[in-house]
Amino acid sequence: MAFFNLHHWRMRQIRRENGLCGKKLLGRGLFAAVYDGGDTVLKLTACEKSYYLNRDYWAPKGVHFPTLVNDFGMVGEYRDTGIYLVEIEKLVKFPRGAVERRLIKKIVDCTESATENHYVKNGWKRMHDARVDALWTVAQEDWLPESMREALEGIQTFCFDYGDCVPDFHPGNFMMRPGTGDIVFSDPVATNSMIMRI
Ligand SMILES: Nc1ncnc2c1ncn2[C@@H]1O[C@H](COP(=O)(O)OP(=O)(O)OP(=O)(O)O)[C@@H](O)[C@H]1O
Ligand SMILES: [Mg+2]
Repeated sequence: MAFFNLHHWRMRQIRRENGLCGKKLLGRGLFAAVYDGGDTVLKLTACEKSYYLNRDYWAPKGVHFPTLVNDFGMVGEYRDTGIYLVEIEKLVKFPRGAVERRLIKKIVDCTESATENHYVKNGWKRMHDARVDALWTVAQEDWLPESMREALEGIQTFCFDYGDCVPDFHPGNFMMRPGTGDIVFSDPVATNSMIMRI
């Protein structure tokens, strides 16, 4: 199901060349593998837009986004696609029962239903547009904290500006900053054309 197989010779080579072979694998998603780097993590990803969100200085910033520690750029190719490596701050999952989990679920559910509404109402539009427009609807909700509203608007602008980029909200893509307890959008966007290749 994941885009890359970490044991394919090409990915093994990329991992070896970048010192990832001995490191503990902390997590995997559809496009990324995340390794333990001590106080930081090393994220190897085939998703260009999620890499840009971590890297670009004009990408949304603030307490709700992960801090970039090092950008290693494109470190190889796999299935005709660039593989990128960044070092970012280490985040953790919210403890079971944390109130933030309820807020995250509300955001995810609201984004899903807003996407569906936009898609049904404007049938001529592509799903891609519906997913981006949905963030505007969610940002209007009065239960949303102000700083998160700004974060959502930042993600929406990022998707508009980059094109081929969609919000990717599911509970696993929200994490906690240890120490402060901030909700962090750890992996809020995906490359639309890459989703088609899964
Ligand atoms: N900064 C971080 N600190 C600690 N663990 C992380 C961090 N970022 C990601 N992870 C872990 O790695 C997993 C995969 O990361 P991520 O969600 O960024 O990958 P992805 O392949 O782009 O995901 P998706 O399938 O949602 O598109 C996460 O679910 C999480 O468990
Ligand atoms: Mg993810």
